[in-house]
Amino acid sequence: MNAQLKPESMAPMSGDKYQLTNLTTGKATELPTRTGSVGPAVLDIGGLLKDHGVFTYDPGFMSTASTASAITYIDGDAGVLLYRGYPIEQLAKHSTFLEVSYLLQKGELPDAAELAAFTRSITRHTMLNEWLLRLYRGFHHNAHPMAMVATIVASLAAFYHDTTNITNDRHREIFTHRMIAKIPTIAAAAYKHALGQPFIYPRNDLDYCANMLHMFFSVPCESYEMDALHAKALDLLFILHADHEQNASTSTVRLAGSTGCNPYTAMSAGVSALWGPAHGGANEAVVDMLEKIGDVSHVQDFLARVKDKSGGVRLMGFGHRVYKNFDPRATIIREMCHKVLGKLGQSNTPLFELALRLEEIALKDDYFISRKLYPNVDFYSGIIYRALGIPREMFTVMFAIARTAGWVAHWSEMIGDPTMKIARPRQLYTGAARRDYVPVAKR
Ligand code: ACO
Repeated sequence: MNAQLKPESMAPMSGDKYQLTNLTTGKATELPTRTGSVGPAVLDIGGLLKDHGVFTYDPGFMSTASTASAITYIDGDAGVLLYRGYPIEQLAKHSTFLEVSYLLQKGELPDAAELAAFTRSITRHTMLNEWLLRLYRGFHHNAHPMAMVATIVASLAAFYHDTTNITNDRHREIFTHRMIAKIPTIAAAAYKHALGQPFIYPRNDLDYCANMLHMFFSVPCESYEMDALHAKALDLLFILHADHEQNASTSTVRLAGSTGCNPYTAMSAGVSALWGPAHGGANEAVVDMLEKIGDVSHVQDFLARVKDKSGGVRLMGFGHRVYKNFDPRATIIREMCHKVLGKLGQSNTPLFELALRLEEIALKDDYFISRKLYPNVDFYSGIIYRALGIPREMFTVMFAIARTAGWVAHWSEMIGDPTMKIARPRQLYTGAARRDYVPVAKR
């Protein structure tokens, strides 16, 4: 069958009409479009198999919306990111991570009483079951913290099965509060395990990020001296990383969750997907890369290797599937880097200077210009984490803590949708056609 899609304009907008024509039979069918609240409409191809006997083929979801969602909007050409309609720049300036978590979940900013109640609930859920803490002892001391976090998050399913009836609204709410509350504690326990230090219990008198720093850096014989700037910088990084519509890890959470599985196991799948260097693992890879480059004088050699492509070297922290102009989060983080490093007296660290120079040179280079490759959220985030004393192997864990707010919001939105279906992609089969089994002696 020859199928031809005839767009009447390049970007489908509300009211545009599309038709699919079978050039062999001449049969033409109008394809319905669906219109969102902002941005281009989408072609609804859900009936293609039934009406035309064909699937679409789109590896990597280059042109495919996997779901409708009301949580986050990105305009990649204009460098726009909105959480529930609010620009990321405004949230970064005025909001807090917990308020943003509430917004992502509920769709509206909380009033003072709602925010207080939400904060109280998150604060009261920060402890881990003592038996769960014992699971860490099964890990070797040099296990990667992302491996520990993915395992412990999945293990929550074994502890809270009595309150995880996903059809019950209240159970879903308890689940989301538990996840947001416990993920810093889970991360801190992984860090302490790797260090061989005793686990530090959460403190309810501290706010979300201050408590996290306390659990990371206090020891039983000495409390961590809290620097408010550190907690504020973390809070800002968490706001910027909280959600990013249907990215790989969020789509993983949705796909796993669409089976109706225990939601903690869906979150664990999200943590694992985030770990990859093409996704959240990039923040760790950026610092590795900068250290390998070592000095500004080696930047041109490094970029030549990137452009040569034969060695498979990429400029980590550059490029994005959706942003083809600039990543607004990178702009905010670069400013934050100047502020935080300035206040810590680390503005002139060779790593930061190298990153700035690398960005400057790459942005003038035709290879990056022609492919629309710009710094993404992870180009500078590792530099701030490092300045705050957070070790490199914990960078992606920090990302996971923040993205948990987005994962639970997307999971709740999906499970609460009465039209939800199990996500079950199809394939273009390229293997052997039917053939008969041959006994081993005759092969
Ligand atoms: N360095 C060098 N070249 C690159 C880079 C890069 N970082 N990113 C893309 N390219 C090139 C590709 O080689 C390709 O070139 P070609 O047209 O000559 O074949 C072109 O740009 C398009 O790249 P794709 O890989 O097809 O783009 P895609 O949208 O699939 O990938 C991704 C996006 C994975 C983010 C990619 O840009 C990348 O690997 N970046 C580095 C890793 C990174 O920073 N990841 C974090 C992303 S943000 C996040 O997840 C939090």
